[in-house]
Amino acid sequence: MSEQPSAIHSQWSSRFAFILAATGSAVGLGNIWKFPYITGENGGGAFVLIYLLCVLLLGAPIMISEIMIGRRGRQSPINAMLALSREAAANPGWRYLGWLGIAAGFLILAYYSVIAGWALDYVFKAFLGEFLDRDAGEIQSLYTHLMADPLTQIFWHSVFMAATLYIVMRGVNAGLEHAVRFLMPALFFIMLFLVGYAMTSGGYQQGLHFMFHPDFSKIGANAILTAMGHAFFTLSLGMGAIMVYGSYLPPHVSIAKTTFIIAGADTAVALLAGIAIFPLVFANQLQVGSGPGLIFQTLPLAFGEMTGGWLFGVLFFVLLFLAALTSSISLIEPAVAWLVENHGHDRYRASLHAGLACWLLGVGVAFSFNIWSQHKIFNKNLFELLDFLTANIMLPLGGLGIALFAGWFMRAEHSEEELELPPEQFRIWRALIRYVAPPAIILVFLHALGVMG
Ligand code: PHE
Repeated sequence: MSEQPSAIHSQWSSRFAFILAATGSAVGLGNIWKFPYITGENGGGAFVLIYLLCVLLLGAPIMISEIMIGRRGRQSPINAMLALSREAAANPGWRYLGWLGIAAGFLILAYYSVIAGWALDYVFKAFLGEFLDRDAGEIQSLYTHLMADPLTQIFWHSVFMAATLYIVMRGVNAGLEHAVRFLMPALFFIMLFLVGYAMTSGGYQQGLHFMFHPDFSKIGANAILTAMGHAFFTLSLGMGAIMVYGSYLPPHVSIAKTTFIIAGADTAVALLAGIAIFPLVFANQLQVGSGPGLIFQTLPLAFGEMTGGWLFGVLFFVLLFLAALTSSISLIEPAVAWLVENHGHDRYRASLHAGLACWLLGVGVAFSFNIWSQHKIFNKNLFELLDFLTANIMLPLGGLGIALFAGWFMRAEHSEEELELPPEQFRIWRALIRYVAPPAIILVFLHALGVMG
């Protein structure tokens, strides 16, 4: 099956193109915006350690499985799961895993686009020199003003959604590949540069201590769930994004090697973001737990002070926007691929329909930071609810399904054939995917539900 390219969709031009696109999907707001603020909210070092363990023990083997299922199934996640469950003589109900993923991607994109819109707004703030010579209080009030202003947020959210749809409509090769080729290296270098600045900021030691000195007294069941959920979120796992990219991957490319490159780059960018941000937090007596506004309240301070800060500020927020864009296209791609396959839509119509619905939900998210901020379900506003539901519940659940399917239902010969690993490495992967990932995910869920101590 893996030798036949899909008739409907195209293929990546090379392994390198796949690595770029998958890294583009993985590296995004999750690394630069979310990782630092949830690390801040969850007490630092111990949280970082649990997150890293989750990336290694759950994320990597599940990413291998997702790419494998995608490449062998050669269709959108729903149809790939259907094809492979037939091949494995398993229940065709496995295709609902694809549905779960499409729904998760859709719900994530609704708020992702709003936050990416903030980054766009900050491109213009940087360009207009609004960060220059400001103190921490003034930088903070730039952010609070934006939060209080739904129309500006909706405007930028619309711009971002339009950009996403424009790329998705043009299709995988033309649209996605070109978008990531220069972006990833550029982003990496600017993060390194910001770390260099953080070293001189006066809070460097304290920042590093916060991030890398584990204090487990700060960790509760919810922090563990958040760390695990974030491992899935940051690697774009559990919802079919990596699976659908895998379905465009040519045969005989080493899936395991590619996974380590993608996961390694993703983790490196997140850690660099943290190392750049926490020293600024401590040097300026800001709150580590200040939530989703953390990077918007810290990095502009650095841009306002450093030489060449105007240029670096503009550059950074442009790159953040582009990094978000290469992730957002993968959030909507499973839905688009499915509409194309099952409803005979062309990519244009499929993208338009999925995108409009997503945009509408995003408008609600923009309201949740102001006029709807007091409307809460389970004590969460719409943004917090969508984030919790997707990152902490739906993605790990999707990951669990993928692990169970790849480990217990797919035939070992088939995964062996697809992965082409040396026997001992294959055994490690298979042990992780059968005996480590499923019980670990279930335990974290039960723990968070308070079922276990
Ligand atoms: N991995 C992306 C990020 O860290 C978000 C994402 C999640 C993208 C799930 C696709 C699928 O920003």
